[in-house]
Amino acid sequence: MDRGYKMWLRYNQITNQEVLEEYQSCLQHLHFSVNTATILAAVDELQAGLSSMINHSLHVLKTKDQRATLLLTIEESIAKEENVQVEIEDEGYVIKSIKNNRLIIFGKTDIGVLYGVFHLLRLMQTQCSLKHIYIVEQPKNSLRMLNEWDNMDGSIERGYAGVSIFFENNQFTKDWERVKDYARLLASVGINGIAFNNVNVHEQETKLITPEYLPTVAKVANIFRMYGIKTFLSINYASPISLGGMDTADPLNEEVRQWWKDKAKEIYRFIPDFGGVLVKADSEHRPGPFTYNRTHADGANMLAGAFAPFDGIVLWRCFVYDCMQDWRDRSTDRARAAYDHFKPIDGKFHKNVVLQIKNGPMDFQVREAVSPLFGAMPNTNQMLELQITQEYTGQQKHLCYLVPQWKEILDFDTYANGVNTPIKSIVDGSQYKYDHCGITAVSNVGNDDNWTGHTLAQANLYGYARLAWNPDLSAELITDEWAKLTFGVDEQVVQVVSNMLLQSWHIYEKYTSPLGVGWMVNPGHHYGPNVDGYEYSVWGTYHFADSKGIGVDRTVATGTGFTNQYFKENKELYETLNNCPDELLLFFHHVPYTHQLKSGDTVIQHIYNTHFEGVEEAIGLKKSWLSLEAKISPSIFNGVSERLQHQIEHAKEWRDVINTYFYRKSGIEDEKNRKIY
Ligand code: GCU
Repeated sequence: MDRGYKMWLRYNQITNQEVLEEYQSCLQHLHFSVNTATILAAVDELQAGLSSMINHSLHVLKTKDQRATLLLTIEESIAKEENVQVEIEDEGYVIKSIKNNRLIIFGKTDIGVLYGVFHLLRLMQTQCSLKHIYIVEQPKNSLRMLNEWDNMDGSIERGYAGVSIFFENNQFTKDWERVKDYARLLASVGINGIAFNNVNVHEQETKLITPEYLPTVAKVANIFRMYGIKTFLSINYASPISLGGMDTADPLNEEVRQWWKDKAKEIYRFIPDFGGVLVKADSEHRPGPFTYNRTHADGANMLAGAFAPFDGIVLWRCFVYDCMQDWRDRSTDRARAAYDHFKPIDGKFHKNVVLQIKNGPMDFQVREAVSPLFGAMPNTNQMLELQITQEYTGQQKHLCYLVPQWKEILDFDTYANGVNTPIKSIVDGSQYKYDHCGITAVSNVGNDDNWTGHTLAQANLYGYARLAWNPDLSAELITDEWAKLTFGVDEQVVQVVSNMLLQSWHIYEKYTSPLGVGWMVNPGHHYGPNVDGYEYSVWGTYHFADSKGIGVDRTVATGTGFTNQYFKENKELYETLNNCPDELLLFFHHVPYTHQLKSGDTVIQHIYNTHFEGVEEAIGLKKSWLSLEAKISPSIFNGVSERLQHQIEHAKEWRDVINTYFYRKSGIEDEKNRKIY
């Protein structure tokens, strides 16, 4: 039964006769000019894809001759013979139709060829003609990573799709086939790095960098390597204490420095192309350099020095804030924290350190401002961290397709280098000459049959990777592509599914926390409404609602001064009520419920309206889905239907809790007299 395991690599049989004949005639004989594991993986993928889609596999020619209708090569001389552009980057590729109904895929490296093969298969799955094509592709971002938040006991931090595919009972699962399938899926959309243990590195995971586990880490790395994916590990900053028996992890202590140097050497003995380490330090009770009165530059550079001889890099997270805040203290603002900590040490980091910055200054809310740190550190490598796993966005029970949100973030103009300095141009290294940069994201997969729990949540993983490859792709194009790859080219299905996806983020936003204020979720697991769940807590996540108004005053004039962290144009945008966009109003301002939005509604009426509308629109999502019953495999159809029904019920809960809370607080009636409790 089709439960969605294959995700977007389904290779369904092509039934359109014309398309089938075209493919069959041009895909007859294959010649490939190098024999690396990656090229062989590409050939395997081709053969599997073709036999499933067009009922035949390619006949492999040992020598290159005119019969070869498909050429895979990394040799420039062969490419030049066919007038193929050879000036491409290492991971780039060219697919060109050449004389006599033949095709060539040229890559500078075998990884480029592999990407080209996946692209060819994608063209076929979406039934595009291969005649007269000349595709030149290269990734915009050099780091295109995933962070798995998997623990060795098998659990996944913020995992909503079963347990880990990597670990169980403090060991590796050894389900290498599944790991390989994951690698195939990721390579097919250009992911080139993975850190597969949780950034919160607990006792057992600390040992992943010891000989007890390194041989198995190496095994995983071998699988990923074949698909062009480098392996990274999250490390415990206090490893010299936990593993080395030392009494300090002070980054300036000579013995600590030596310990890490030896450790790096040891890791590279097992994994010669190990990518490097991911570090969550001084964040949510994780150890870090602050314990020793050292800066984060001291901390990161010490590791960078140890890994540099092996070309390893240090991914250093900027999610550093006071998580023991006093809610009575209104001057401390968590949103300020990353900038306050890191901006002053711009230029102090080694070349092989990359600062990993969450898209927003708080924490992956359905709507928040972008982090003002992007573009503010011209002399320090930066990368963007997104969250695919839907922690605050419905936990893969609700449909919430995040590509439109990510597009807004990537396109956001920071003005760092004057007008037109979008975030995408900072993290791809084109604004400042960064040595390492790119995009990473917290993965949403687990060992559920369909990997992501909600089958439609596969689109988030797909869309993330496509954007990491090329942030200029439109949400519509990515969505259309994913829908076709997943459900076939039937126009009705593609249109209905695409519309559902593209609307879903706004729908989710409507019935959850309003106008950028965020949070209002149950503490701990973060699912479901609880308006005051975090209001009197230590986490720095408040809405300050009282009987008169709501919102966080982050202005320079009267608030925490956070707006000052942005470049002038954005500071002016957010600082005044007049300029501040509605959707972020409560992120930046505390206003009376009667404040009139640009939309014309008052804040309170907006809250009521959007919550009623959100539920209606969630009902609409299910209606749309039901219209596809005859065209979707029953197991997937029923699974998604059940989740959409749950979404409706849960959206009602959100609606009623939020509306009732604000009705009771404000005492203001809904203009439309709808039911509020
Ligand atoms: C959020 C999340 C945690 C996670 C943390 C992080 O706070 O709730 O589970 O560990 O982000 O990004 O480190």
